[in-house]
Parts: sequence; C-alpha cells; structure tokens
Amino acid sequence: MERLRSVAVLGATGLVGREMIKTLEERDYPVSKLRALASPRSAGSKIVFRGTEITVEAVSEESFKNIDIALFSAGGSTSKKWAPVAVGSGAVVIDNSSAWRMDPDVPLVVPEINPWDATGHKGIIANPNCSTIQAVVALWPLHKEAGLRYVNICTYQSVAGTGIKAVETLKNEAEALLAGKEIPDGGVYPHQIAFNLLPHIGAFDEEGISEEEWKMVNESRKIMHLPELKVSGITVRVPIFRCHGESVTAQFENELAPEKAKEILRNAAGVVVMDDPKNEVYPMPITGAGKDAVYVGRIRKDTGLNNALSMWVVSDNLRKGAALNAVQIAELL
Ligand code: A2P
Repeated sequence: MERLRSVAVLGATGLVGREMIKTLEERDYPVSKLRALASPRSAGSKIVFRGTEITVEAVSEESFKNIDIALFSAGGSTSKKWAPVAVGSGAVVIDNSSAWRMDPDVPLVVPEINPWDATGHKGIIANPNCSTIQAVVALWPLHKEAGLRYVNICTYQSVAGTGIKAVETLKNEAEALLAGKEIPDGGVYPHQIAFNLLPHIGAFDEEGISEEEWKMVNESRKIMHLPELKVSGITVRVPIFRCHGESVTAQFENELAPEKAKEILRNAAGVVVMDDPKNEVYPMPITGAGKDAVYVGRIRKDTGLNNALSMWVVSDNLRKGAALNAVQIAELL
C-alpha cells in the first residue's frame, strides 16, 4: 500500500510554490498533511488544497517536525538557512533555488534523465534551473543515440521565472505604455521589460557571462554526467508572462538525420513533437503555458556545423521547469 507523506511547501505564496501545491493535487500525490510556509509577511493568509483552506505559517524551527518531504521555492538565501533545519528534523528537501545545485553532495535531478542520482541524497535534492530542464529533456534522448559534443542554447525566458513582482511589472508597464503614459517606477528589472528584450539574467562575471548562462553550462553537465560537454549561448528575458522558448543547436559525435531525431523525440519521456512548419505547426509559449510537456519543433539540419541539428524547445517554466519536476522527484522518493 502507498504510504502517505506529510509535505511542507516553503514559498507557498509564490508563483512556483502555488504551482507545487496545484501539481501535488493534480497528480494525486499521497499527501497526509500539507503545511504551507512563507515569510512572516504572509502568515495567516489562506491557500486551498483539495478543497480545504490551509493557513499559511511563517517558517520557523518547528515547521519541519513530522514532515517527510519539504518542497522549497523561496529563494537561495532562505533555502541556505532552512534546508539544514528541515533535514535536521528528518525531512527530505527538494529545493528549487540555485543554493545547492552545484554542491557535490547534492543530486541535481531530472527524473527523465538521472532518476538514480536521487537515491544518493543526504537530505537535499536540487531541482535544476528552468531553462536547463527543458533543454536537457530534449537533448538527452538525442545524446543517447548520437553522443552530444557541443550545444548552443539561446533562451527566450518569460517573466514568471523572476517571481510574482515581475509578472506585475510587465502588466503595469504594458498597461501604462498602451495608455500613452510613462512606465511606472518600482519595476524589478534594470530596464523596461514591456515591448523590450533584456539580454541579462543574473549578475555578469568579469568575462561578461551571466549567472543564468553559467547555470546552463554547469547544470547540463552535472545532470547528464557529461563534465566535458561544451555549452554556450545567451539567456534573454522576454515580455511573455509564462513559458520559455529556446533555440537549441546540438553537435553530435555521429551523424543524426532530422527525421531520426524526430522519431526519437516522439518516443521520448516528457516530450511532445510539434513539427510541421509548412503548415504553421511549431510550439509557442501559448502552446506550453500551463502544460506539463517539453514541446519540440523546427527540428532541422544545422546550416553551419557538421553532424549538428537545430531545434526550438518550449516548456512552461513554472511546471516542468520548476513545480512539476520537483513533484516528480518527490514521486521517485
Ligand atoms: P512571502 O509571500 O511571505 O513573501 P516569488 O518567487 O513568486 O516572488 O515567491 C517567493 C516565495 O518565497 C513567497 O512565497 C515568499 O513568501 C517566500 N519567501 C521569500 N522570502 C522568504 C523568507 N525570508 N522566509 C520565508 N519565505 C520567504
């Protein structure tokens, strides 16, 4: 018989936290008790789980007593502080922040790729970055066939990845500009995001590479156990509310025909191929928003590199890019 689990969600009032609770409900995860945790700011507010109101509590030393699984999505510093407390109370933490991802003692797991890594956890399992997850779900089955050598990933990332305040910023700026007004103060980005593109996600290092770009490099290598894989690209924030798009060019050891790649991807876990461009069939953010799959289209021979394919990969950054992947890890456990 399936054992019921007591589950805590830290960041329960945030975009990803709410999606985690919705995903637990939709996938009928065997929850005996759900504890909704956030900062003192939202203590006392209510969330609904399986038709029952649950009161949000401020996270504290007592929060993780008798909790089996703690899903975290409350930012890196909150995670650094509270994950050891949760583990000390006997919970397994599945953490959506970047705080633990590159720690050699912490598995970084995408269940379609490296589920066995989860078994080696010491209390914390990290959920990868949203852009990395959708790229590797599409690349892994092709790697198994032809051997990945180099991948270039250029991202078109929605504002939901930055959190609730970014969604409000895009809405407020778009409304103001359409009304012929100045954009309001208080936005979360260094520049206007409405009707604009920001080639800037996370801080830049001395060589001009952003944190998000390093996540793509380092996390892809760790998840696929390919420490030598060459990865490049640019990460860009776009004025889309939810769901990321990515232009992916992959070079392989062996030749891989586009038709063969399509067949492999049609049979791959978590992937939906939408590829009939002459009939205007390809995935878009409006295709993926609110859905679970990683959608792949525009699969074609790369026009510049040998043994290389280019493709367009779309997935909801709050679902497979965050909440769904975390709940799938909980299901593995
Ligand atoms: P709160 O709503 O109380 O601020 P998002 O990424 O969508 O902005 O959501 C961030 C989530 O992380 C929210 O649930 C937020 O709670 C929570 N959070 C942020 N800082 C803390 C903190 N210091 N302690 C606990 N939860 C936090």
